[in-house]
Amino acid sequence: MENPFKFGGIVRGPHFADRRKELDELVGEMKNLGRIFLVSPRRYGKTCLLFNLIDRLTELGFATVYIDLNAYPDIKSVAGAITNLTCRALESNADKLMKIFAGLQRLRPKASVGRDGTIEVGLEVSVEEKEALPALLEGMSHANKLASRKRKKTVIIIDEFSDITKYNGQTLEKALRSEIQKHEYIGYIFSGSEQSVMLSMIRDRKRAFYKLGRVMELGLIERKTYTDFITRWLKKGGYRIQPHDLQKIFEIGMDVPHNIQRLCNIMWELARKNRNVTHGLIAKLPEVIAGQDSPHYEMLWHTVSQLQKVLLISLSQEPAAKPFSREFQMKYGIGPSSSVKASLDSLMKKGILFKSIAGTYQFSDSFMPYWINLIRHGIYR
Ligand SMILES: Nc1ncnc2c1ncn2[C@@H]1O[C@H](COP(=O)(O)OP(=O)(O)O)[C@@H](O)[C@H]1O
Ligand SMILES: [Mg+2]
Repeated sequence: MENPFKFGGIVRGPHFADRRKELDELVGEMKNLGRIFLVSPRRYGKTCLLFNLIDRLTELGFATVYIDLNAYPDIKSVAGAITNLTCRALESNADKLMKIFAGLQRLRPKASVGRDGTIEVGLEVSVEEKEALPALLEGMSHANKLASRKRKKTVIIIDEFSDITKYNGQTLEKALRSEIQKHEYIGYIFSGSEQSVMLSMIRDRKRAFYKLGRVMELGLIERKTYTDFITRWLKKGGYRIQPHDLQKIFEIGMDVPHNIQRLCNIMWELARKNRNVTHGLIAKLPEVIAGQDSPHYEMLWHTVSQLQKVLLISLSQEPAAKPFSREFQMKYGIGPSSSVKASLDSLMKKGILFKSIAGTYQFSDSFMPYWINLIRHGIYR
């Protein structure tokens, strides 16, 4: 039997765990063409949730568009992509599509040869950068008109929306807000992992997106539901496991769906032979993963300073440590606080650490502390 625990990329259908309530809620909101800001830390499963939502909405007859701002370096390319994708979602007839494209003022069709040799038609902004924003607004307004003409409820999902600040923000945000507010046939979901950026965009009165929509904070999957999901698959595969041993997986993976999936995936492989998942096997999993990702960690390790290394080592031993306390600095022989602060800031900028809501510094990758432990004990060097 194929390994049922998928990780990395989009997980769909029977391999997608739970999120029933969230899906129902989002479907309900989209039936009313609402506007939702979906917020959570990375790897909690926003993108997967959105793709499963798209499957549901498609069944219900919605037109759907998904774009990930990460993939677009400038407003010009966003304008092209949003317009192209919404028109395609709403018009399947190629001739009519070309007519629509030809009717746009600031965007023009651009043909390119696809990987399989077929001709693909996309859209590009035919004007200079300063016209990019009007082009985006033209495309969006056009999408709304098309949706209304077709009487088709449409949902536009913008993922990694916090990236929008990179396009030199305020004017764009203001213009987008006033355009979006006019749309009667389009529901919107803005999804983002930079929680503080997202929340300040929506909760700060001075910002353009203030109260434009409802915030939905995506939490972790409940242990009980996730346990049922895992147990069902294990049973199907003929695996034996003690329930309290399975709970250990949630502790190691800190309940983050990406981690849990990865741990279960390896557990499945390691126990393939005798189908017996033991306590010892589970305890070994994080080190196996740390070993697999070792090249990646090594590369990161080379980019950090000596003080940053000391901080990472100490945080891997004491996850709840307070790096600014005298006690901590004495214990690890570091200081003054100003250089500790600069180092922590740099580690956060590199994406190695993040600051939790409780104010502690956490590893973005929960398996990195295990790798640090391994090198400390001379396993790799
Ligand atoms: N409900 C779920 N069921 C199964 N796996 C999931 C689920 N949610 C997330 N994952 C796993 O976590 C990984 C990261 O999820 P992703 O949707 O990319 O998170 P985010 O967009 O919040 O960063 C996925 O590749 C998948 O392996
Ligand atoms: Mg994502």
